[in-house]
Amino acid sequence: MSAELILRSKELFARVFQEPANVIVCAPGRVNLIGEHTDYNEGFAMPFCIGKYTVIAARRRTGATCRITSAGVPGAISTFPGDSSLSPGPEGDWTNYVRGVVFGMLPMLPGGSCAFDAAVVSDVPLGSGLSSSASLEVATATLLESIYRLGADPKGKALVCQKAEQTFCNSPCGITDQFVCACGEAGHALLIDCRPPYATESVPLSDPRIALVVADSNVKPQLSGSEYPDRVQQCKDACAAMQAAGHSEVRHLRDATLSMLETVARSHALPEATVRRARHGALRPGDGISEDQRTLQAKEALKACDYAQVGRLMFASHASLRDDYRVSSPELDALVEIARGVPGVHGSRLTGGGFGGCTVTLLSRSAVPALLAAFEAEYPKRAGGRTASVFVVRPAAGAMLLQQGAGAEPLAGAPLSPQLSGVAKVTAALVLSAVAAAVIASKRQR
Ligand code: GLA
Repeated sequence: MSAELILRSKELFARVFQEPANVIVCAPGRVNLIGEHTDYNEGFAMPFCIGKYTVIAARRRTGATCRITSAGVPGAISTFPGDSSLSPGPEGDWTNYVRGVVFGMLPMLPGGSCAFDAAVVSDVPLGSGLSSSASLEVATATLLESIYRLGADPKGKALVCQKAEQTFCNSPCGITDQFVCACGEAGHALLIDCRPPYATESVPLSDPRIALVVADSNVKPQLSGSEYPDRVQQCKDACAAMQAAGHSEVRHLRDATLSMLETVARSHALPEATVRRARHGALRPGDGISEDQRTLQAKEALKACDYAQVGRLMFASHASLRDDYRVSSPELDALVEIARGVPGVHGSRLTGGGFGGCTVTLLSRSAVPALLAAFEAEYPKRAGGRTASVFVVRPAAGAMLLQQGAGAEPLAGAPLSPQLSGVAKVTAALVLSAVAAAVIASKRQR
């Protein structure tokens, strides 16, 4: 957590609302190490928080009106009701992430309404598949939790945020992003069992011998386009076909086995494309290789510090996402292949929803300079002159209340000092080019 980000949020608040903020909260972006497109199939995912955060400086008000401003939209203040008359703003409006969370939390608030002023700043790259949206949602929920002194319930908070994104932002997302933003632990990945009641396991991921590198292809994913909802629907279709074939227990792909799917495929009850999606999807562990099994195996390998095995599973995950699930892109494939050619790289794969966005690479720490050099030299050749934006990341803490009080005083134990930053310092050497600024371009302008 950068102390400078906190300062910027306070300054923005004071400038716009003409008085000091008295509460500061934050929530991070995330990277998914493995377990992709499994969450809406009630499978397993293993993401971690990156040390880049959305920070909100705020002040509770009386009444039922919320005012919010963002460093990304200088000079603009959005106002909306903090009661049950609240509805989504125009499609694509960034405040819909905030509105949806406020709406979802109203039943928990005293009198069923709320009022606050808030200023948002963020260093999570926007619209790059690093969950800038979930980070804003979870930061908003943490704000309400803090100013109305609700009991901390990270899982409940994640579910409210997921619903907000589904209902106010028209994105049929799963639970992975909001869950890790709310529940992530510094130095750990979070294995999430995406079937209610959502069991989690923190898995240590802070071995100094390894490094994690995120490479942004600088092609923006479009999660609200039709590709993601199409995948969700194909998984449902596959389940329906297996149910119709007598497997009534298959409520989600999590419940299906490879042999059930093959039987249905042989009867031509499903289009070939749907069978391929389902093959990637969360087939029941213990029967065939699926993304779920890879995720569970990767968790065990990580606990045993068997990074070569984690890496093999990551490469296999990417291949399945590319060939069966069809959510990769030429640019993401290029990044993975470039990484594969670097000695010391254990594994690499696309991370997040796909169709652009980022890859995550697991490698020996000593191999980081070679990987960066390879991305810099090779990616533009394979991506039509485009450059990648590259970050070394360390698993960081999830959402938290940072400061509270008259002048927003630091809380004892809150990680405010730059030394406790969850992200490795991105030095000039670790940023491939000035095009890093392109990361700021976003599907939603803040
Ligand atoms: C997006 C969604 C998540 C998950 C991933 C794919 O990030 O928000 O819920 O489905 O895609 O694993």
